[in-house]
Amino acid sequence: MSRKKIVAANWKMNLTQEEGNHLVQGILSGLPADVNCEVVIAAPFLFTAELVQHLKGTPVMPAAQNCYPAPSGAYTGEISADMLKKAGVKFCITGHSERRMVFHESNGFIKEKTEAILKAGMTPIFCCGESLEIREKNEQNSFVQKQLEESLFHFDGTVMRDIVIAYEPIWAIGTGVTASPEQAQEMHAFIRALLTDKYGQEVGNAVRILYGGSVKADNAEVLFNQPDVDGGLVGGASLDADNFLAIITAGN
Ligand code: 13P
Repeated sequence: MSRKKIVAANWKMNLTQEEGNHLVQGILSGLPADVNCEVVIAAPFLFTAELVQHLKGTPVMPAAQNCYPAPSGAYTGEISADMLKKAGVKFCITGHSERRMVFHESNGFIKEKTEAILKAGMTPIFCCGESLEIREKNEQNSFVQKQLEESLFHFDGTVMRDIVIAYEPIWAIGTGVTASPEQAQEMHAFIRALLTDKYGQEVGNAVRILYGGSVKADNAEVLFNQPDVDGGLVGGASLDADNFLAIITAGN
């Protein structure tokens, strides 16, 4: 069964609106005519409305980097999943290691966020992945398994099949150290085996599992060619149109 690849940009807290506009124009003008992977851009909240406008009528889909699980209320500074959906956002990242580490988000809180994203009608891009310390102890599989079990595995198969998972080893994020294609494939196959075990072959085969962590123009193709790697979640290299376009080509 062939899964449609996804190449997703995570701009993180980078770019002014002007720079963001320029980057989106660069990406749209260089997009291959025959693009047949899904291309996603997760911009800072401030840029959401403009991003949605720019991407209208193009194959690129707007995403958000975060949301708050409550539907509305006294949560100063936060944005709900419903607000994002109504603004035209299609995907929302949840469980990113930077939010886990910097903002102390737990598996339980990420579970609530994932539920809110689904309830609003968006697709979650659920991030998981271990630190260097955990990998050095060779405990990465049980660590990632716990992240999945505590945030996702209460969903039933019809919901699970449409959730996008991104494996992002923390030691590879923003470091220039990429997981080797073998390391990525090994973890992706492990995640898929967990999904198959819990939900059966059909769901196990359907879920897209992206790799994230120092994906670049020159390593994307070999990573994306691994049998269980269904594209990438790209940070630094997505901030340059030519680099991101080359990664899209690798996913095409
Ligand atoms: P880098 O591509 O900059 O390593 O970031 C990866 C990431 O965290 C994407 O969400």
